[in-house]
Amino acid sequence: MKILLRSVLITIAIALTTGPALAQKQPTPEERAYKFRTSLFQTFAWKLGQMAGAKGSGDEAAFVKHANDLAQLSSLIEEGFQIENSLPEGTKAKPEIWQDYEKFQAKAQDLSDAAIGFTEPGAMADFDPRDFGSKSCGGCHRDFKIKD
Ligand code: HEC
Repeated sequence: MKILLRSVLITIAIALTTGPALAQKQPTPEERAYKFRTSLFQTFAWKLGQMAGAKGSGDEAAFVKHANDLAQLSSLIEEGFQIENSLPEGTKAKPEIWQDYEKFQAKAQDLSDAAIGFTEPGAMADFDPRDFGSKSCGGCHRDFKIKD
């Protein structure tokens, strides 16, 4: 009985001391933006893979769907960079994004245009995932993302 009581008291004590500490761990708006955009970029990588897979199996309908998804998703890029200089710990984003925001916007538009281009009938034949990644993704990364 004594042991049970003691373990209950210890549990309460732990809850009281760690509770406030957990409450303080709310992410900042910058950290939220960072999380949003890295998740978004991961979906890009996924979609690029899906496009390559659809081409590999000759499924043009699926290919067009994924290209269209990628175009839609790319319209969300700017949402992840709304807070100027949101560079929390771990980010690979460069401050140049906000110093030359028009160029950054143009790179986002390039990706969107390239993805839309691949929704055209027959365009799948010209799709090369490496080429696409190097031009439409790497074109922005080279200027605005810190190298891994
Ligand atoms: C307009 C610029 C831009 C375009 C276009 C772009 N990226 Fe990025 N990408 C970035 C930036 C900036 C980061 C770093 C974000 C950060 O760490 O805050 C990034 C990060 C990433 C990451 C790392 C995410 C993580 O978990 O840390 C991946 C994966 C990625 N991009 C894939 C892609 C792919 C695939 C494409 C093309 C289909 C693409 N990106 C197009 C700017 C871009």
